[in-house]
Amino acid sequence: MDSLGLFILLVLLCCQWRAALTAEQSSWTYTGLVGQSDWSQFFPDCGGSSQSPVDVATTQTQYDPSLKPITPLGYSQHGNQPLMIYNNGHTVVIEMPGWMGIRGLPWLFTAVQMHLHWGSGGPSHGGSEHTVDGQSAEAELHIVHYNAELYPNMSAAMTQRGGLAVLAILIETGEETNEAFDNIINYLSRIRHADQKMFIPAFDIQSLLPDDLGRYYRYNGSLTTPPCYQSVIWTVFHERVHISKAQLLKLETVLYSSKEEESDRMLLQDNYRATQPLNHRVVFSSFTADSGKELTSGEVTAIVIGVMCGGVGLAVIVRFIVKTMRFFSHQRRQTVVVNSSSSSWDVLHSNRPAPMPRTKDPEKEKKQDVDLNLTADTIKTEEPSVCPHAEP
Ligand SMILES: *[C@@H]1O[C@H](CO)[C@@H](O)[C@H](O)[C@H]1NC(C)=O
Ligand SMILES: *[C@@H]1O[C@H](CO)[C@@H](O)[C@H](O)[C@H]1NC(C)=O
Repeated sequence: MDSLGLFILLVLLCCQWRAALTAEQSSWTYTGLVGQSDWSQFFPDCGGSSQSPVDVATTQTQYDPSLKPITPLGYSQHGNQPLMIYNNGHTVVIEMPGWMGIRGLPWLFTAVQMHLHWGSGGPSHGGSEHTVDGQSAEAELHIVHYNAELYPNMSAAMTQRGGLAVLAILIETGEETNEAFDNIINYLSRIRHADQKMFIPAFDIQSLLPDDLGRYYRYNGSLTTPPCYQSVIWTVFHERVHISKAQLLKLETVLYSSKEEESDRMLLQDNYRATQPLNHRVVFSSFTADSGKELTSGEVTAIVIGVMCGGVGLAVIVRFIVKTMRFFSHQRRQTVVVNSSSSSWDVLHSNRPAPMPRTKDPEKEKKQDVDLNLTADTIKTEEPSVCPHAEP
């Protein structure tokens, strides 16, 4: 009877816990009742040791030359199917068609959606999730992909290590309007309340990215929102993109985290998570601090051709010099041997070994020339030659 009672109690507790969990699943917040510090009570992974975002301390990063540039696949082939955009109460999400993806990671990843994180204070007041050397950017774009080689869909991949790949683009403010971002920002006023959605015209998603997709930071981390699964291979691009101050203002002030029917309207602001401890993780970089820009294949080709041309030119010059010197020294020797009868050449003459018949010498050579040639050849072998190997 006791064990039955215990069983019932356990079942009740379990049901209660599940109910609480389900209730909290949609009601977590960044600050307040179920704020960031409480997430791990309801979503255990949020208390894990490989959480995101992190601060990238650039002096602590490790250069990994095997990190190849990210190649977006189909980002610009948007076709004319409209894209779904919605306010989920935590951010604005734009769903992406399944033919878009990225190459440059150990597996092929298929795009799922992108969303933004931002602050509330305008320029210079933070809003990005990742920070670099302790500094926030104004906002951050995340493009979420799942590992299509290992998993059939997003929900299967999102709980597994290496199941997701997220591209992070740090956003700062500048003077000019970023036309690409207007494809999103212009529609925010029509999805102001949580759960509102609409279709927007498809646009070139690659135009949201920085130009340099070769320089980035890479580490293993998590979703930055509950349930915080530690399944994400992160790519944080070094180059930032810029939007205007007016665009940032719209992003920070147009959306509500509350539903339309709720009387208390809550602005959707400061939807960024605090940076999490690295806990022995290494942040790798695809570039070195002093490398400047990585060389493009065109630049490498130019350098190789330049070096080759230089080498060939140098070889031609060296060969010409050697030949010229040979020519003159040969002429001089001929003159010396022919004209001298009582000079130091006679000493040399007496010391040298007896002339050997040379098999290579053609038979047809005239007798009077042979003596002259042998003398010249022997002298040549006794004095150091300028560049014996230059002769073909
Ligand atoms: C995802 O894949 C898993 C495993 O094959 C399957 O059980 C599940 O129904 C799929 N989910 C969706 C949303 O398609
Ligand atoms: C991420 O984790 C995997 C599996 O443990 C490991 O092979 C890989 O090197 C890690 N990548 C980074 C960037 O730390």
